Amino acid sequence: MNVLVLGGGGREHAIAWKISQSKDCSQLFVMPGNPGTGRIGKNLAGSPKDFSKVRQAVLDNNVDLVVVGPEDPLVGGLGDFFAEDPALKDVLFIGPCSKGAALEGSKEFAKQFMQRHSIPTAAFRSFTSSSIDEADRFLESLKAPYVLKADGLAAGKGVLICQDLDQAKAELRNMLGGKFGSAGNTVVIEEFLSGIEVSMFILTDGKDYLLLPEAKDYKRIGDGDTGLNTGGMGAVSPVPFVTDEFKDKVIKRIVVPTLDGLREEGIPYKGFIFLGLMNCGGDPYVIEYNVRMGDPETEAVMTRIDSDLLHHLTMCAKGRLGEEKIKISERGALTVVCVSGGYPEGYKKGIRIDGNAFTSDNPDVNIFHMGTSLSDDGILATSGGRVLAITANSRQTDCSNNSETPSQKAVRLIGEGRDACYPEAEKIRFEGRYFRKDIGLDIIRFIEKG
Ligand code: AMP
Ligand code: GLY
Repeated sequence: MNVLVLGGGGREHAIAWKISQSKDCSQLFVMPGNPGTGRIGKNLAGSPKDFSKVRQAVLDNNVDLVVVGPEDPLVGGLGDFFAEDPALKDVLFIGPCSKGAALEGSKEFAKQFMQRHSIPTAAFRSFTSSSIDEADRFLESLKAPYVLKADGLAAGKGVLICQDLDQAKAELRNMLGGKFGSAGNTVVIEEFLSGIEVSMFILTDGKDYLLLPEAKDYKRIGDGDTGLNTGGMGAVSPVPFVTDEFKDKVIKRIVVPTLDGLREEGIPYKGFIFLGLMNCGGDPYVIEYNVRMGDPETEAVMTRIDSDLLHHLTMCAKGRLGEEKIKISERGALTVVCVSGGYPEGYKKGIRIDGNAFTSDNPDVNIFHMGTSLSDDGILATSGGRVLAITANSRQTDCSNNSETPSQKAVRLIGEGRDACYPEAEKIRFEGRYFRKDIGLDIIRFIEKG
């Protein structure tokens, strides 16, 4: 079958890479793609937000299945556009309609949805500029730190965590006053949850679901989780505290009620759901829903799926996911993101990248392109803040006779991932290149502390 992946970052490169391994994949297209996806499929010019361009690409290339990487086209109604167009309605499509995408597109909707369906999440209320006094009272009733969220999409920047009340009240006014444009016309204020975060993912056809490997993302720019927030500087999968018991809680308390809730509310959903969770003393709480996979989590997660992702996606789009079983590798994955100097603040683009940024000599390593461009004369250069995601898998070992404990295994998987990943990251050279040196170390320390 012919497949079109929409998007052009590391997440889409990893999804396309996994799809390209399927025997069912005849032709693979990526719009707009990047130099990395150009090596495994055909990149098509255009933006996934340009629905008529997407339509033309599907019809011109006899595309059978479309997989949407980023959230904005979904929140903007690409799923509805496909469902309503006679020429597109039979094309298999992975991604929710706009009502389902509101789980990510509107924090207020997501929080109210969780409240309606008794899904564990932080206590909250939402406010607009006409209820600013009530918002102040609500803030005064909470303990620091204070969590303020712009209701709409704000390019991942719409959440502020304020350490004191005056700062929270000032930021509330900034948000309602347009700091994040219209995304901040409504602000959700919620209770601060303390715990360890984890990203979990399902693929669902609205009835059944497959649980994908979980991952831990490293959001801050600096080692030891210091400095500014970024889109994600690395990832590790599996995450040792995600035990079978924790997974059971996530399924019973979150996944099942989410899918039941969507059905009860008449919202069809075929696609990925990313559960941003906080583990509070062994109990999972939803921090956020996303209607897409995470980046850079996907670059780790895809390398741990041993079954045929394209088959799962096809059956999902046909509403037959109940017939599928996912096979997850025992091998761990560790991803390190190389970023441009200055990121997440100002940085230069167009800097030449030296070293082989397409393949590694180490068969346990994959390099996914996040923000790169290729000139006509074949020179690879940076084109974004996050440039390359290097993923290493731990060594293939037969664990059948292995007497190691789960903790020993977690330490081994992360250690092997680090040993394979960091030498590759060092080989990639460009002016200003930076990466965190401590991906996975917090987990090892946590385990060693007992
Ligand atoms: P979000 O965009 O909703 O995922 O929020 C961005 C980040 O803010 C999350 O990944 C958390 O690190 C943090 N965060 C959001 N909500 C809360 C909360 N209620 N308590 C603690 N941290 C939070
Ligand atoms: N890495 C977090 C996200 O994709 O939202």
